[in-house]
Amino acid sequence: MDPIAATHALAWLAVASLLLLSAIFGRRSKRQVNLPPGPKPWPIIGNLNLIGPLPHRSIHQLAQRYGPIMHLRFGSFPVTVASSLEMSKAFLKTHDVALADRPKPASGKYTNYNFKNITWSDYGPYWRQIRKICLMELFSAKRMSSYEHIRKEEMLALMNNLYTSCTRDKQQPIVIKDRISTLSLNVISRMVVGKKYMVDTEDAIISPDDFKRMLDELFILSGVYNIGDSIPWLDFLDLQGYVKRMKKLGVKLDNFLEHVMNEHTERRQRLKEKFVASDMMDVLLEFADNPDLEVKLGRDNIKAFTQDLLAGGTESPSVLGEWVLTEILRKPEIFKSATEELDRVVGKERWVEENDIQNLPYVRAIVRELMRLHPVAPMLVPRLAREDIKVAGYDILKGTRILVNTATIQKDPKLWDNPNDFCPERFIGKSIDVKGCDYELLPFGAGRRICPGYPLGLVLVESSLANLLHGFDWKLPPNTKPQDLDMEEVFGLSTPKKIPLEVVIEPRLPAHLYNI
Ligand code: HEM
Repeated sequence: MDPIAATHALAWLAVASLLLLSAIFGRRSKRQVNLPPGPKPWPIIGNLNLIGPLPHRSIHQLAQRYGPIMHLRFGSFPVTVASSLEMSKAFLKTHDVALADRPKPASGKYTNYNFKNITWSDYGPYWRQIRKICLMELFSAKRMSSYEHIRKEEMLALMNNLYTSCTRDKQQPIVIKDRISTLSLNVISRMVVGKKYMVDTEDAIISPDDFKRMLDELFILSGVYNIGDSIPWLDFLDLQGYVKRMKKLGVKLDNFLEHVMNEHTERRQRLKEKFVASDMMDVLLEFADNPDLEVKLGRDNIKAFTQDLLAGGTESPSVLGEWVLTEILRKPEIFKSATEELDRVVGKERWVEENDIQNLPYVRAIVRELMRLHPVAPMLVPRLAREDIKVAGYDILKGTRILVNTATIQKDPKLWDNPNDFCPERFIGKSIDVKGCDYELLPFGAGRRICPGYPLGLVLVESSLANLLHGFDWKLPPNTKPQDLDMEEVFGLSTPKKIPLEVVIEPRLPAHLYNI
């Protein structure tokens, strides 16, 4: 055989052997992988055709059909969904570390400094370090109580603002989400960046309305199903225009955060050794100067971290505030029971203090019921498998996206009687809590990625609800009936009401209490 023919023969032999080997091993590995049940995927799009504009609703429907552990395909990526108490425990407790990464959506790249915030950063030394700063420095009991005066002042400012509106024109409907989000935005801004940067003055860097619009856009874009995240080779087309919006928003957010950071750095330099950290950004800047830090904190890290805190702290409490009032307006007997408790425990001569909450079991039960029926993040924030694992005999392979379908679990008729009814009484006398130990109720998630801001989130929701109910009688505008109230949601990283709630209110307490 001449040398050329021999080379050809060898090449063919190599190719044939490779094909044979891959057929043998490919078939064997396919046979060995036992994926959870799920709908058959289409080429290219996978199961995206089954996901509607409210993905948690679509996934709820699919879970009814395929069961507590389900396998889907979003474009090129495998997705596993947990939809029962047992599965949420297996995912978030038994396999917490194996499932502790996050996917890398375009929103994390363009609006969160290339995944440098807490939410989108992977499990690892950087994430561990910033979580530790959160727990030890920002949300510790000591730090939380040192900021109590801020929460108190802003709460009174809200009561005063509502009082002024309703005494000026008794029948004028008020859009309540705007007012509650102003409270949470003001509280969180003062705690995180030291003052209310978002004010309605001429020299302000941004107005509160513009800032809230930026946050709304951030939450929507962080939750959207961007085609490029599932089918990467179509990414460059930006078919839905989301990436363009993300880039635009990223620039706006950065302009704001640059301004805030420059002011903080300038104050530190000016005060030199007299400088004392007075807000969370100051604390972060001190950490950035610490040479012993395991992973150095740079400028983008501090901006990303600050943005996470401002966004997480503002959006969730206001989304919940609007939902709870909607539910109470549909069932006035809840308002009656709550105000009876408030009048008995607190009395009509003062506002509710944070340490009263432990003595208000009915108000606390309303908040738990609210978080059960209206989870802010109905499938938590997606996680990503860091290694191959087995759950209930099924394989979850490294790189699979993980959704914990708390919306379905929190309405599971096996766990809850009349699950679609808003009924705070179900929590009276029950020890079930929201802090990540009871896997049937996980409004803040559980395990290593549990919401680090939950001490603040919970106190804001509980005390604002208690004071709103204590301070005012709540009614629907004339000609609106409780049964006409719209209950539709918008899906993003949070799920606000689609149509803003309008209310008519009347003061319940003596006039002097509303004065600032
Ligand atoms: C009632 C209010 C709040 C609710 C319902 C809420 C809910 C959640 C949920 C469900 C998650 C995802 C957990 C998971 O993936 O398992 C989360 C994560 C997070 N939340 Fe909250 N949150 C609230 C308030 C706050 C506040 C006040 C802050 C900060 C000031 C905050 C900052 C964060 C951050 C940074 C993460 C990402 C954690 C990580 O990936 O390691 N949240 N939150």
